[in-house]
Amino acid sequence: MVTFALLLSSLTRISQHLPVLEGALTVNRHLQKMTKLFEGEILGPESFAAGPDGSVYTGSADGRLWRIKDGQLTLVARTGIDHPECGSYALERECGRPKGMKVDSHGDLIVVDAYKGVLRVKLDTGRVETLMNNFNGSRFLFLNAMDILPNGTVLISESSTKWERRDYRYEVIETNKLGRILAFDPVTRKAWLVADGLYLANGLTLTHDQSAILVAEMSMARITKIHLSGSRAGQREVLVSNLPGYPDNIKRNSRGHYYVGLGSVRFEGSSPLGSFLDLVGPYPVVKRIITKLIPAPLFDVFLPKHAILLEISDNGHIVTSHHDPGASTLIAISEAFQHGDNIYIGHFKVPFVGHLKDYELQQKGS
Ligand SMILES: *[C@@H]1O[C@H](CO)[C@@H](O)[C@H](O)[C@H]1NC(C)=O
Ligand SMILES: *[C@@H]1O[C@H](CO)[C@@H](O)[C@H](O)[C@H]1NC(C)=O
Repeated sequence: MVTFALLLSSLTRISQHLPVLEGALTVNRHLQKMTKLFEGEILGPESFAAGPDGSVYTGSADGRLWRIKDGQLTLVARTGIDHPECGSYALERECGRPKGMKVDSHGDLIVVDAYKGVLRVKLDTGRVETLMNNFNGSRFLFLNAMDILPNGTVLISESSTKWERRDYRYEVIETNKLGRILAFDPVTRKAWLVADGLYLANGLTLTHDQSAILVAEMSMARITKIHLSGSRAGQREVLVSNLPGYPDNIKRNSRGHYYVGLGSVRFEGSSPLGSFLDLVGPYPVVKRIITKLIPAPLFDVFLPKHAILLEISDNGHIVTSHHDPGASTLIAISEAFQHGDNIYIGHFKVPFVGHLKDYELQQKGS
């Protein structure tokens, strides 16, 4: 531990200046207005989807899928086995880890499970059907987010083809370019590659005009836009880089913007050592050594205590930001999901669903 800290402090910063918390990034306490729903009943709700009847769906770290309706939490299904130790690191593969989800035009819940692939869940019976469990013969280790095109094609982010989801910290440290975007047609059951060579492809959303997708390249602290249609179809561009944290899920909101949850922050002064990844960034050998020697949970000791939710525009401009300095309500944000006047906040480790009213994020000051 001490050696590790010394090793880090002996490294110099990479040249990129860390963002400064001013302007749209000015610190506020908006996220501290959050209330905790279903505390102790659910572990690690990460991502949300809206159902046709006003329900909201989410998945937890033990492989369970849940419905939230009229203030009640009910079990819908599981993506893997039922075992008392589901929710542990050891059994994550077997129990499943539901990530991105969305209700399709037939009213079925399409769920991306990190390991099990793309699943279709009948919401009335809870029956789970596997639609795709491999790509080109390789099983999945770390699928992440998804969205559905108007023609029914499912777009999926795959964060890594080397590390499993439960080893995400190593994927972050190594800063590999092993992320991909896959497409899957549930009718023909054909899958194809949309983009590869991405840094930890995490959050994924269609743009408001549906002509492109935005992908969070988490370990690079940036968001990339990939054009799907028009004269630029197939092209990609960095939409925004040097974010004040490592972006997790991206969701469209009712103001024509996008909520971007930050899995950990990096800004001027966020840590006495500077951002961990920015420190080790230029030293691939150091990264490989760290990956071999340091038990993964120790990395969390270095996470600065400050949660940030960003709101960005279609052109990648940071419109506003919502903070919890000190991380008194939650350590970080995986996703902010708007459902009418309600904002549901998820994180893959917390034992509750965060809830805010939309107007609480619109108030100036405080
Ligand atoms: C599929 O697998 C084959 C054989 O391993 C490989 O040559 C090809 O590049 C792969 N295709 C994609 C899209 O990954
Ligand atoms: C749906 O749209 C995508 C993206 O434009 C395209 O690649 C795919 O072939 C379309 N699928 C069908 C069934 O038309």
